[in-house]
Amino acid sequence: MNRPAMEGLRLNVPAYVKHQRLVAWVAEIAALTEAAEVYWCDGSEAEYDRLCAQLVAAGTMKKLNPELRPNSYLATSDPSDVARVEDRTFICSEQKEDAGPTNNWMAPAEMRALLQTGETALFRGAMKGRTLYVVPFSMGPLGSHISHIGVELTDSAYVAISMRVMTRMGRAVLDLLGEDGAYVPCVHTVGAPLQAGQKDVAWPCNKTKYIVHYPETREIWSYGSGYGGNALLGKKCFALRIASTMGRDQGWLAEHMLILGVTSPKGRKYHVAAAFPSACGKTNFSMLVPPAGYDGWKVTTIGDDIAWIKPHADGRLYAINPEAGYFGVAPGTNYKTNPNCMDSLKRDVVFTNVALTDDGDVWWEGMTDEPPAHLIDWQGKDWTPVIAKETGAKAAHPNARFTVASTNNPVLDPDWDNAAGVPIDAFIFGGRRSTTVPLITEARNWTEGVYMAATMGSETTAAAAGQQGVVRRDPFAMLPFCGYNMAEHFAHWLDTGAKLQAQGATLPRIYCANWFRKGADGKFVWPGYGENMRVLEWMLGRIEGQAGGDDNVFGVSPRYEDLRWDGLSFSREQFASVIGIDKAAWQQELALHAELFKQLEHRLPAALPATMAKIEQRLAA
Ligand code: OXD
Ligand code: MN
Repeated sequence: MNRPAMEGLRLNVPAYVKHQRLVAWVAEIAALTEAAEVYWCDGSEAEYDRLCAQLVAAGTMKKLNPELRPNSYLATSDPSDVARVEDRTFICSEQKEDAGPTNNWMAPAEMRALLQTGETALFRGAMKGRTLYVVPFSMGPLGSHISHIGVELTDSAYVAISMRVMTRMGRAVLDLLGEDGAYVPCVHTVGAPLQAGQKDVAWPCNKTKYIVHYPETREIWSYGSGYGGNALLGKKCFALRIASTMGRDQGWLAEHMLILGVTSPKGRKYHVAAAFPSACGKTNFSMLVPPAGYDGWKVTTIGDDIAWIKPHADGRLYAINPEAGYFGVAPGTNYKTNPNCMDSLKRDVVFTNVALTDDGDVWWEGMTDEPPAHLIDWQGKDWTPVIAKETGAKAAHPNARFTVASTNNPVLDPDWDNAAGVPIDAFIFGGRRSTTVPLITEARNWTEGVYMAATMGSETTAAAAGQQGVVRRDPFAMLPFCGYNMAEHFAHWLDTGAKLQAQGATLPRIYCANWFRKGADGKFVWPGYGENMRVLEWMLGRIEGQAGGDDNVFGVSPRYEDLRWDGLSFSREQFASVIGIDKAAWQQELALHAELFKQLEHRLPAALPATMAKIEQRLAA
């Protein structure tokens, strides 16, 4: 920006901002991007309402019928900007090997030239004609020793309002930062500068996209997308990619995990953290309603997507949910699959890319058995069941989302905002596999559990752009989210366990789950959803030394008689088809594990191939 223009730009710093380094950085980014004005978000309700009204006026959002869906909006994105873009996501560590073979890498200096410093750098002038919103946020309860602060500078009001729902956002964070507190700088632009007099579009974005992380300097730069994990930088970029590197350096874990509380009829409360890849039912599992016959059991939600987990002086691992809201997949959510979620969505929601009903409410595939007779689909076109049958057109995009505050959840755990976190009793690692992987298996020890997590595979979903339904290895459900070399992530887990064990601690049990095995008819065999309570009860029974099981080649699985079946008709044969281990399939599976280990061989901990060798021996026996 030339000097007169820069002098003309007021930074509008509120009097309560005392952090000169932050102010200087905002000035620097405003100058680079040539933002037309700067606005500091205070996180108030009045501000939220004002920005929402502005987004409605701009055509980005529609206000839904307040009688049917109070205080709620529908945003519809550009059809090219509907999911995370993994092939445009970069980990720019100094050394390529530190990003590892599963991440896209570019040298930091090269990336900075492309984005910031080069003559034609993408961020130069990228916010022309737009407001730069300063969005201070805390990932985790304000002031918790497990939490960390970030500041996102964005030219998207949709991002600013979404960050208010998804994080603890606003003035209180700046108060906490004080004069010199540490924060992760996050810069985001939709990459659509406006020339003088140019009319804006409803969903500005750019065909070119870069989602960039500098793990050593703990910075995030995101260009070209306004959607979800590409743009709400507290979520995947900070809470997983940058936080995982912080965790490696500081001795804690940032994981793609829900956290739930489960209370038995005797009043004993357990906490379980479960990793599943995107769009594999983490939100549903975290809000599970125990089925008939489980009177007195209660499941409560601490988080639905991300867990930050720290070893504590008492030898246990304590977890917080760094987020304050849910950005969940709408299609498939209904009163049977997730009644608590449906109740959370009754009001105060920002929906994105679902369909609009004629009376100003929302609908998505799977919401009701019968679709409405007419809708406006997520792309603004007329939609009827007849059109859908003829053309296959979906009313909602398969990755359509809701953004809603945790406090709307009727089964929110009373400890969800506890600064100390909750002690974890068990970890679950699950993938979406139509074959091969049993319903549930318990690792016999920590190393076996880390092996299960490291070798997880899953069929890809609409949460990421690209081909769907192909099995890919998704170690720890972190393939798109680990900010450093995945092999080192395995080592970090092994070390964390070894350190706690050396202190005499009892480690959380580790389980491998698969709700998604299909029968010969191509249908899921296991009913899933609330019925997963039966599996959860078995796991807790194992922790208490009360539930039985049989050793299989890679752990311990329940026999038919080890699960409680009251209220569900599920035959021994059906159970055998979800729990069985097919030797030939496992031989092929192990070949895929070996392929992963070959890819990661440079820093792979020896304990993992050693565990694989033992599984091979058992399989051959
Ligand atoms: C998410 C994802 O949005 O994993 O949580 O894609
Ligand atoms: Mn996720």
